[in-house]
Amino acid sequence: MATNFSICLLITFNFVIFPTFYNTVNGIFCEELTEGIAIKRVEKTSHLHFYFHDVTSGKKPSAVKIAGPANSSAYGFGATMMMDDALTEGPDISSKLVGRAQGLYAIAAQEEVSLLMVMNFAFIEGTYNGSSISILGRNPVFNDVREMPIAGGSGVFRLARGYALAHTIWFDYNTGDATVEYHVYVSHY
Ligand SMILES: *[C@@H]1O[C@H](CO)[C@@H](O)[C@H](O)[C@H]1NC(C)=O
Ligand SMILES: *[C@@H]1O[C@H](CO)[C@@H](O)[C@H](O)[C@H]1NC(C)=O
Repeated sequence: MATNFSICLLITFNFVIFPTFYNTVNGIFCEELTEGIAIKRVEKTSHLHFYFHDVTSGKKPSAVKIAGPANSSAYGFGATMMMDDALTEGPDISSKLVGRAQGLYAIAAQEEVSLLMVMNFAFIEGTYNGSSISILGRNPVFNDVREMPIAGGSGVFRLARGYALAHTIWFDYNTGDATVEYHVYVSHY
């Protein structure tokens, strides 16, 4: 019983790309959807372009330090920040808000400035409202362009895969505040 249940959940989880949470037609607890659903849907690729605003200074920072060693090394190894950064349509932070980058980043290198990024782009714009893209990647912030993999997504980005390209357009060396341009290429159904 327990074994059947686990197998059923596994199959369902892999192939649920229809919009409802669960198929309960005629009391069928679980059915395989591989051919019926996956073949009908065509994967498409979307290109998203927006600006990310990391504000660590001022009265209401959108990124705050939550952990790290008491005595920092040259590159601040171990410092960990939690962010709820605005994503806007234009490079100005006061331009139209399209979503937020929620998650954390940590200084994960001892010989260079390189971050571990673990974040969700939570969108609020148009058909993307309520949908999200999850990013898990390496971000050597002083490189011109950084590439980070898309680990998955929700809503219209369910079963997402792809990559994000980040390019810093403004950085304040005193405060650490930054504006980063993102091009995201995401394949989804
Ligand atoms: C930090 O450095 C100071 C001065 O070198 C030292 O006294 C202190 O024990 C260090 N603290 C930790 C947590 O390593
Ligand atoms: C996004 O969805 C939320 C919740 O359904 C709604 O309150 C909000 O007005 C929507 N925003 C936009 C820009 O459509």
